[in-house]
Amino acid sequence: MTVDGLPMVVPARDLPTRVRIHEVGARDGLQNEKATVPTPIKAEFVRRLAEAGLTTIEATSFVHPKWVPQLADAEQLFPMVSDLPVALPVLVPNERGLDRALALGARRVAVFASATESFAKANLNRTVDEALAMFEPVVSRAKAEDVHVRGYLSMCFGDPWEGEVPVPQVVRVCTSLLDMGCDELSLGDTIGVATPGHVVALLAALDAAGIPPSALGVHFHDTYGQALANTLAALQQGVTTVDASAGGLGGCPYAKSATGNLATEDLVWMLRGLGIDTGIDLGRLVATSAWMATHLGRPSPSRTVRALSHEDTEEQ
Ligand code: HMG
Ligand code: MG
Repeated sequence: MTVDGLPMVVPARDLPTRVRIHEVGARDGLQNEKATVPTPIKAEFVRRLAEAGLTTIEATSFVHPKWVPQLADAEQLFPMVSDLPVALPVLVPNERGLDRALALGARRVAVFASATESFAKANLNRTVDEALAMFEPVVSRAKAEDVHVRGYLSMCFGDPWEGEVPVPQVVRVCTSLLDMGCDELSLGDTIGVATPGHVVALLAALDAAGIPPSALGVHFHDTYGQALANTLAALQQGVTTVDASAGGLGGCPYAKSATGNLATEDLVWMLRGLGIDTGIDLGRLVATSAWMATHLGRPSPSRTVRALSHEDTEEQ
């Protein structure tokens, strides 16, 4: 480590030179908090993330407010952040969600499919194929308006109800999402059970099916402490888009045992040490997560936030 609280830079071979971080803290993080965060605090969170150098910040979801009450203020929040010079994707499960997002000028949306029937039912009240049918008009209408569409796929590595998820099952739904017109996919390890060999195997199967790493992002939850190892494995396979959540906030209210996402700070620490450019100011990001932790009333689970945040260093 260097004296200014940054890792020494020692590049490794066969890694990308630049990684795009898709920040999900304001959406995946806050959707799972017991306490609903006041809208102005959410807006401040998004603004501070942008000031820390994040360029893609998932802002909120236009889902049914009864299903995710924590994000029921999407209509109020989005206009409070939409002037920021960053990409602000939002989740839309159906045409009703798309209408709400487009009415506020959203230029990036995400649909969210499941590789398993159990989670499709729990999260979307649909079978896998019914959910895909629900997304089809969303994607085609969004594309007709030149709106960027991300396709999430949950439970790619394991499911709390069904256990192991066969790789071909994941490949099938990924193919449907891309055929539908999604611009990129994000492979969700919703409950954080993936390990690096599994990541490499899935990426290889997708590549063999004509879906290259350049079309993919990875979305690891950190339940078993594997998120960073899985991310490194994905980078070694050529993936350059990584989802992460400031302070390691996160989870999914409709998936038993889903905990926080890979913490953005832990990711930035590793990438910086590897000499991979992210354009992020780690100090500002840590300060933002430490500030958010005070609003949530509990410390950040991110090891890097804990190591670098002011309170911890004062105690040492
Ligand atoms: P449903 O009950 O089947 O809805 O829920 P419906 O289509 O039967 O409609 C029922 C009523 O809801 C209707 O109103 C609709 O208008 C209304 P009524 O006519 O009865 O008055 N409605 C809506 N209202 C506002 N906004 C909407 C909307 N849609 C319908 N968008 C539905 C189906 C998809 C709506 C529901 O299941 C839902 O909202 N689910 C969202 C669940 C969610 O947000 N989960 C978390 C995000 S996914 C995630 O975290 C995983 C991820 O991080 C990746 C990973 O980690 O794996 C992305
Ligand atoms: Mg998630």
